[in-house]
Amino acid sequence: MKLDILLGLQWGDEGKGKIVDVLSPEYDVIARFQGGPNAGHSLEFNGIKHVLHTIPSGIFHDKTMNIVGNGVVIDPVIFKKEIDALEKLGVDATKNLRISRKAHLILPTHRLLDAASEAAKGNSKIGSTLKGIGPTYMDKTGRNGLRTGDISLPDFMDKYRFLAGKHEEMLGHFNFEYDLTSLEPAFFESIEFLRKFTFIDSEYEVNEALNQKQKVLAEGAQGSLLDIDFGSYPFVTSSNTISAGACTGLGVAPGKIAEVYGIFKAYCTRVGSGPFPTELENETGEEIRKIGREFGATTGRPRRCGWLDLPALRYSIMINGVTQLIMTKADVLSGFAEIPVCVAYETPDGVTERFPFEYRPDVMKPVYHSLPGWKEDLTGIKSESDFPANLSNYIRFIEEKLGVPVTIVSVGPDREQTIRRKA
Ligand code: GDP
Ligand code: IMO
Ligand code: MG
Repeated sequence: MKLDILLGLQWGDEGKGKIVDVLSPEYDVIARFQGGPNAGHSLEFNGIKHVLHTIPSGIFHDKTMNIVGNGVVIDPVIFKKEIDALEKLGVDATKNLRISRKAHLILPTHRLLDAASEAAKGNSKIGSTLKGIGPTYMDKTGRNGLRTGDISLPDFMDKYRFLAGKHEEMLGHFNFEYDLTSLEPAFFESIEFLRKFTFIDSEYEVNEALNQKQKVLAEGAQGSLLDIDFGSYPFVTSSNTISAGACTGLGVAPGKIAEVYGIFKAYCTRVGSGPFPTELENETGEEIRKIGREFGATTGRPRRCGWLDLPALRYSIMINGVTQLIMTKADVLSGFAEIPVCVAYETPDGVTERFPFEYRPDVMKPVYHSLPGWKEDLTGIKSESDFPANLSNYIRFIEEKLGVPVTIVSVGPDREQTIRRKA
């Protein structure tokens, strides 16, 4: 059996958590391959909304094994909070959650360094979630990091003290006040808590599952436009969010990839700093934010809103090898008379459909094609045959421009508000 991947094609928050939860009954294993608690994946059923940060979105399905892969970075304090919240709902995650020994640990000093580095950047800050992601991946590639497997080794405390000491030296170079002693007790308590979980060599576990003809779905975090190599650098995250990241973040060979589900919102959002050519800094943007409840699942920050950007989507599809598209939040666009869609960019060098090196709104103007909107409320729709004609038209236009079929349309946050579509 081969590995399927579901990942975001925009700047994150496309609805990955919801759709992974919907697809989970079809899979034996759900595996996260990158990112960490900067992610906030929401899923909703029976009137309750859940937000997961580190834990894969298959956790509510008893028969699904959930794996946190080697490419993920784990903050034990946030992980414990997530597990505690699940326990309150009667979900015992020790049964169907496994953690790679090679996943790196986010230390309290990583979080402090993230905050100090952002503060020092002033106006050019990235808008990081301040969860310590950048500094932790820097220590990983710098070959200084601590991994979850290290907590079972006798010299863990020595390694911790050495690395935290090094971080304190670095913090000394920033004009940044902090109190590490107030953060360490919760960290060590959470490290003890983490010991309850099963640590695995997840590359073996995932490959063995595939060899035994089990179905495995890799769950992406963030989105392709936040990828460290291909996103709108430097306003990106610190990991490879694209399909190749699933190979390195789980230890699965490229030839074992089957379907790549690319998920996108019917419009665009972005949280944090960085270029956003189709951003609507006006009443329409406000309206989309209000109707779509566009506030960050991790930080609560208002998300910036704008129209769909097809050149950016086409770029994401190319670097990921997307085989099927999933469109979410179609319901949010009900009531707009016209829906402009960006089909190209006007740049000083002419009109282009490419995602340019200098992805800068001040030198790029979106070229829009307007499509007629629909008035109908979509949230109760159960089948494609009930789609308003203009919604079907909107989807067809996107498919034609992108050359990949839209096989799932989401019309609300609940599990039930999901429509399978024949391409
Ligand atoms: P993720 O990070 O990709 O998992 O997405 P988030 O959970 O951060 O953000 C998506 C938000 O939209 C969440 O609040 C979801 O509950 C909600 N959502 C998902 N799909 C839909 C949809 O089709 N319609 C509406 N209105 N909300 C949705
Ligand atoms: P999910 O998985 C949206 C953004 C931050 C910031 C930049 C770098 O829920 O889609 P970082 O904390 O990684 O150093 O922040 O990336 N960002 C996200 N935006 N959804 C996310 O995850 C994000 N994770 C990081 O806002 O601009
Ligand atoms: Mg999110």
